[in-house]
Amino acid sequence: KRTAILISGRGSNMLSLLEAARAPGYPAQITLVLSNRPDAAGLARARETGIATCALDHKAFPDREAFEQAMDAALVEAGIELVCLAGFMRVLTPWFVRRWEGRMINIHPSLLPLFRGTRTHEQALEAGMRVHGCTVHFVVSELDAGPIIAQACVPVHPDDDPAALAARVLVEEHRVYPQALAEVASGRAVLHEGRCVFRDA
Ligand code: GRF
Repeated sequence: KRTAILISGRGSNMLSLLEAARAPGYPAQITLVLSNRPDAAGLARARETGIATCALDHKAFPDREAFEQAMDAALVEAGIELVCLAGFMRVLTPWFVRRWEGRMINIHPSLLPLFRGTRTHEQALEAGMRVHGCTVHFVVSELDAGPIIAQACVPVHPDDDPAALAARVLVEEHRVYPQALAEVASGRAVLHEGRCVFRDA
């Protein structure tokens, strides 16, 4: 499956997906990295790997819809079949979400449905959690609420600060996102009637 990665920042998850996709037999072929921030560090790192990149500065568009139409056009133009959000920091409209329904996945740095939104590591520490983690899910209109494809847990240590906890979670993100993408790209994990179901590939 021809896959695009959408980023806004440093792109460490993007790199882990690119790395995984190099393995023989991996079911997703990553052919485009798109960023809404032309200065994203991840975009430069993607260019270094030789992959096609696209920078679409959302501030250059009159509204969210116009930005998303340009993004959609770039994805269609590149023949993209699957979209991975990896630290992509723009909220998507129902129109765009519907266009890519069942074909767009995201990674979120918490064990959903706990701690939606931002500052998830702070939220987990404030709640006194003893475990924390990350979730890969299909994207639906409601933010961080889509059907769960895969999760991974880490312990919370008594002396953790948000940065230490984030680093521990990130290691798991880099492991679980490539696995989840493989499940979706192979057709094993599918969005069906609002749930993620697993079929024999
Ligand atoms: C990750 O923690 C991801 O879960 C969250 O934003 C961060 C992006 O990091 N959505 P990177 O750009 O992949 O390094």
